[in-house]
Amino acid sequence: MNKLNVNIGGLELKNPLLLASGVWDTDSSVEIEVYGAVILKGVNLNGRKGNPPPRIYDIQCGVINSIGLENGGVDELNRKIEKIKGRTKLIANIFGSTVEEYKDVAERLKGIDGIEINVSCPNVKDSGIAFGRSPEYVEKIAALVKKVSNVPVFVKLTPDTDRLEDIALAAEKAGADAVVCANTYTGIVIDINTGKPILGGITGGVSGPCIKPLTVYRVWKLRRVLKIPIIASGGIASWQDVIEYIMAGADAVEIGSIIFRNLDAGTEIISGLNKYLEEKNIHHILDIRGGVHDG
Ligand SMILES: Cc1cc2nc3c(=O)[nH]c(=O)nc-3n(C[C@H](O)[C@H](O)[C@H](O)COP(=O)(O)O)c2cc1C
Repeated sequence: MNKLNVNIGGLELKNPLLLASGVWDTDSSVEIEVYGAVILKGVNLNGRKGNPPPRIYDIQCGVINSIGLENGGVDELNRKIEKIKGRTKLIANIFGSTVEEYKDVAERLKGIDGIEINVSCPNVKDSGIAFGRSPEYVEKIAALVKKVSNVPVFVKLTPDTDRLEDIALAAEKAGADAVVCANTYTGIVIDINTGKPILGGITGGVSGPCIKPLTVYRVWKLRRVLKIPIIASGGIASWQDVIEYIMAGADAVEIGSIIFRNLDAGTEIISGLNKYLEEKNIHHILDIRGGVHDG
C-alpha cells in the first residue's frame, strides 16, 4: 500500500515531495525519479540574461540568491523537456513582464504535466513580484493561464506581503488548482570590508532552513482560508520538516536549497517519511494533514 501518493489539484503524484524551481537544471546529475514531480527553471517567452555576478552567496543556515531568472526562453525549454520526459512528472515555472506574456508562455509549452505561475521572484523588477503583490493581477494572470492550459495550474506566492490571504484567495477564485507557499524572502548581505552589497543584483532572495518557521506560519495561516491544496516551499532539509508542513496544512512540499548541500536529500526524506508512517501506524501521509488545526 502506497502511503505517500497524492493528488494535487488533479495531478497524480507518487509522493508529495517535489523538487523546487531553479536549484537544478535538466542536464544536472540530480536523480529526479525520486520526486513526485520536478519543477523546471523559471521560463519566459524569449529568455532573459539574468543579474550580474555574484549571484548566490552562502549564509548561515541557508543561501541568498540573485539569479534574476536567467533562461533561454520557452522554445529552448521545450527541447530540454523532450530529453527528460517520462523520468517523472514535469511542472513548468513560468513568468512574464506582461499579463499576456504569461498566457503566451503557457500556450507554447509542450510535454508538461503542470504549470507553476511565478508571480513571486524578488530578483527581477519588471515582472514576478510586482504582479504577485496585487490580488487583482494574480487573479487576472491565473485566470488567463488556466483558460489556455489543459494541465493543473499552481500559483507560487510571495511571502513578502501583508496581503497573503487576499492574494491566495484571488488565485483560488481564478480557478488555480493549488497555491505554492512560498518563494524566497527579500534580503541583502553587505561586505563589511568594502561597505558594499555582496550580490551583483544588490538584494536577493533568502532560502534554506532559516526561513522555515516563517513559511510554516504562512502555510498554517493559508490553510484556514483556502479550499484548494497548498504546496509548501521554504527551508525543508529533512523528513521531519515535511511532517511539520503537512501538520500545518500542506498537501505536498518542495525542496530547494538543501540540494546544494546534499544531492541525496530527496531519497533520504522519502525513506524517513515511510519509516515514520510505518512506526506511527499511520495509513496515509495526508491523514495527518492540518492536524495542528484540530482543536
Ligand atoms: C538559486 C535559486 C534559484 C531559484 N530560482 C527560482 C525560479 O526560477 N523560479 C521560482 O519560482 N523559484 C525559484 N527559486 C525559489 C525556490 O524554488 C524555492 O521556492 C525557495 O528557494 C524556497 O525553498 P528552499 O528554502 O527549500 O530553497 C530559486 C531558489 C534558489 C536558491
